[in-house]
Amino acid sequence: MTVKFTINGVPVEAEQGESVIEVARRYGFEIPSLCHHHAVTPYGACRVCLVEITKGGRKKMTTCCNYEVQEGIEVITDNEDIHRNRATVLELLLAEAPKADAIVKLAAEYGVTHSRYALPEGSEPTEERDGCILCGLCVRVCEEVVEVSALSFNARGDKRNVGGPYMDTPQNCIACGACAWACPTNCIGFEEKDGMRILKKWNRELPLEYTEAGQPLAPRFQLRHFIEKANLPKDFYKKGGPR
Ligand code: SF4
Ligand code: SF4
Ligand code: FES
Repeated sequence: MTVKFTINGVPVEAEQGESVIEVARRYGFEIPSLCHHHAVTPYGACRVCLVEITKGGRKKMTTCCNYEVQEGIEVITDNEDIHRNRATVLELLLAEAPKADAIVKLAAEYGVTHSRYALPEGSEPTEERDGCILCGLCVRVCEEVVEVSALSFNARGDKRNVGGPYMDTPQNCIACGACAWACPTNCIGFEEKDGMRILKKWNRELPLEYTEAGQPLAPRFQLRHFIEKANLPKDFYKKGGPR
């Protein structure tokens, strides 16, 4: 069913079930986002996608990555209030991830170059403040795209974090690296060394499979996962170099 509403006064059309952010972007309106990816369920964690929505004469500020389109709503994607609120959100995020390029850059666009909530200069990152903004993108990608559900949120309050169950090494992890690619603060990352793919944040190391020419192909468990999912022949990826 088609839903009609306006964005910044421009009449737009969307399919029922679409989110405001997806429709706004399709029509060329810019809205910042950090925890949103069209391939996974919205979570509304980072709050930088704040917009103003008027419905039935009532105006409210809300995140729009997790706001479904509705007939007749009026969406405003930027004004002084929205700008100020996004700047505050970015100041908080900057304190959590002061070295994350995406956040530093976005914060600067909103005039935020320093955070009042930052750790004192010279402090070492802690387990809880290692650049993770708890956006949950890694958890959702692992569950909904990779379909192994190796990650989850753990603990509460100040201690809340992401990782394997009870912060142990995620035993289901196939070291595919999708979480690292998706992470907006780049705080997961991985390296390949001595025939292994290493994801330090998850304390996970898995052996790589090689091409016949000796080039690293992918972690062995990841290839097995693909073979299973796509119902491919067991020898689909030929073994090559070091084991
Ligand atoms: S690397 Fe591991 S934790 Fe990350 S998405 Fe892949 S399976 Fe999940
Ligand atoms: S590790 Fe990255 S993707 Fe996962 S919750 Fe933290 S910031 Fe988000
Ligand atoms: S992009 Fe909407 S809350 Fe993060």
